[in-house]
Parts: sequence; structure tokens; C-alpha cells
Amino acid sequence: MSGFWPVVLSEGGLVLRPLRRQDAKEYVEVRRHNAEWLLPWEATNPDPGYSLPAFPTLRRLLNGQARQGLLLPFAIEVDGRFRGQLTVSSFQWGSLMSATAGYWIDERVAGRGIVPTAVALATDYCFSGLGLHRMEINIRPENAASLRVVEKLGFRDEGIRERYMHIDGKWCDHRTFALVAEDVPFGLLDAWQRTRNRSERDFG
Ligand SMILES: CC(C)(COP(=O)(O)OP(=O)(O)OC[C@H]1O[C@@H](n2cnc3c(N)ncnc32)[C@H](O)[C@@H]1OP(=O)(O)O)[C@@H](O)C(=O)NCCC(=O)NCCS
Repeated sequence: MSGFWPVVLSEGGLVLRPLRRQDAKEYVEVRRHNAEWLLPWEATNPDPGYSLPAFPTLRRLLNGQARQGLLLPFAIEVDGRFRGQLTVSSFQWGSLMSATAGYWIDERVAGRGIVPTAVALATDYCFSGLGLHRMEINIRPENAASLRVVEKLGFRDEGIRERYMHIDGKWCDHRTFALVAEDVPFGLLDAWQRTRNRSERDFG
């Protein structure tokens, strides 16, 4: 699919871009540093023989799926350093025009409004660049930090999906949140920047 990928989006010191071969060292360091912090929220594979591939294979797989129009697998770069990932997946075209976003960030830069800004950039690209109509985010009800991300961005709570996704080795309930293009006529980044409080203005 042409014009879908690669994509680079940015706002202040935040850049969303494809994973690069040169990210390997920072990726390994960030994942190691945040292993405990990410564990309760990370999607797992119900196949007990599965393990997350090492970075070079992971990067190849993600970028390969992006070239086929199946994923937008962004690296989150903050002030020139790899700090996390935001992946848009589950594209549904035709009468739905919908996709789902997932994300994580290095605890050392948490609390600065980076992920809300990243979600806003990616959503605006999906709505304006790809013509999607709906962006969905699924969150465990226990994940207070992630619930704040969608709350601050104005996503609507669509309710609980029981035992929806395999997380940290078990099937976990999730709340589904969604936003449609009509909710943000001037874009989600614009709406987010208008509402965010002063202490979060590191990235915009
Ligand atoms: C959820 C997450 C992506 C939020 O990213 P972020 O860039 O820190 O987002 P924000 O800056 O908007 O902070 C969101 C909330 O996190 C909480 N928070 C702030 N600093 C924090 C810190 N140092 N440690 C933990 N939580 C923090 C606050 O409740 C904040 O809400 P507030 O703005 O009302 O204070 C991030 O916490 C994370 O990666 N968590 C682990 C993985 C995960 O949960 N992924 C999402 C799965 S659905």
C-alpha cells in the first residue's frame, strides 16, 4: 500500500518514526530498565512456547507488516532518544474505517504528557492521512495511568470487554475507549493542546 508507511510525525521534542537498526542498543537498555514497570500491562501470547523476538527480528517483522499496510509500528523518540513504542493495528476498512492504538513508555520520562501527544499525532495521521473514522484503545481497568491518557484526550468509554486480551500471561478484562473523526474537527493534537495544563507543556 503506497503512502501508508514509512511515516514520521513530530511535535516539539517528540518524534514518532519507524524503528531503526541503530535503536537496538537503546531499545535493549530501555526494555531492561522497565521490565517490571511494563510487565502487568504487556500483551502476551497464549502459546507457552512463544517469546518476544530479539530487537533485529522484531524490527524486521514490524516494518514488514507496516509495508503490507497492516500496522503503524512507531518508535517514540524523545529529545533524540528511543523511549517507547506506539503501534496502530487492527485496521478495519470499508464501512468501519477503524484502528486500535497501543503504547508504552520509559518510566524515566512518564508523566510529561508524551503518550497523549503521541496518540494525538498518530490519530490525526490516521484520520487525515488515511481517512480512518474511528480510533480505539483498550485498557485494563486497573491501569490508572493509561486510563488518564484516554480521559485527558476525550476518548469515550464504550464499556467492558470481558477476558478480552492476553496480558501478563492471562486473559484480562479491558475497557474499550474510542474517538471518531467528528469529535475532533480541528484534530486531536489541537484539542489536546487546548486542554492540557501548563505543567505538561514540555511537548508543544
Ligand atoms: C500509560 C502510559 C503509557 C502513560 O504515558 P505518559 O506519557 O506517562 O502519560 P501522561 O504523562 O499523560 O501520564 C498519565 C498518568 O500517569 C500517571 N503518572 C505520572 N507520572 C508517573 C510516573 N512517574 N510513574 C507512574 N505513573 C505516572 C499520572 O496519573 C498521569 O496522569 P495525570 O496527568 O493526571 O497526572 C505509561 O504510564 C506507561 O507506559 N505505562 C506502562 C505500560 C502501559 O500501561 N501501557 C498502556 C497499556 S493500555
